[in-house]
Amino acid sequence: MPAADVVAVVALARLACRRSKVVEIARSAGRYVVVIAGRGSRTGLVATPGRVVALLEFGSGTIRVGIVGCGRISGLHALGYRGREDARIEAVCDTKRTRAREKARAWGVEKVYADYLELLADPEIDLVELLVPHPLHA
Ligand SMILES: NC(=O)c1ccc[n+]([C@@H]2O[C@H](COP(=O)([O-])OP(=O)(O)OC[C@H]3O[C@@H](n4cnc5c(N)ncnc54)[C@H](O)[C@@H]3O)[C@@H](O)[C@H]2O)c1
Repeated sequence: MPAADVVAVVALARLACRRSKVVEIARSAGRYVVVIAGRGSRTGLVATPGRVVALLEFGSGTIRVGIVGCGRISGLHALGYRGREDARIEAVCDTKRTRAREKARAWGVEKVYADYLELLADPEIDLVELLVPHPLHA
C-alpha cells in the first residue's frame, strides 16, 4: 500500500468516525477499508485517498465473517482470525464443496456453502472475504 494513501485514508477515517485507534486497514480495487476503534465500539469506512465512499458501523459485537474461496490463500486469511474476540469465521464457501468442508473442519466452522449467493443471503454474516480468482472479484 502506498504510504501517502494510507496517511490520507487514515486521516479521513479519524475525522469521519471521530475515533483515533486504527485497528485494520485493507486495500482492494483502489479502495481502502479502515476499521477504527474507540469508546467500546468499532466504526470504519471505505474510502479512496480523497473521498469517503461509505461509512461502516460494526457495533460492539463480534464481526461474523464469510470466506468465499477456500484455496491456497484462504489459510493465511483464516490465521488472521485465530484467537480474536472481535471477529470470527462464521461460514465458508467454495464451489468445490469437499474443499470447503475440509477448511470448515480445520477452522472449526459449522456453516458450509457451495453457492456464494446463499452465503450472502445469510443474515448472520456481517463481512465477506472474496478469495476467488481475479475475474470473479466483481
Ligand atoms: N496464493 C497467493 O499467494 C495469493 C496472494 C495474494 C493474493 N491472492 C489472491 O487471492 C485470490 C485467490 O487466490 P488463491 O491462490 O487462493 O486461488 P485458488 O485457486 O487456490 O483458490 C480459489 C478458490 O476459489 C474457489 N472458487 C472459484 N470460483 C468460486 C465461486 N464462484 N464461488 C466460490 N468459490 C469459488 C475455487 O474452487 C478455489 O478453491 C486471487 O485473487 C489471488 O490473486 C493470492
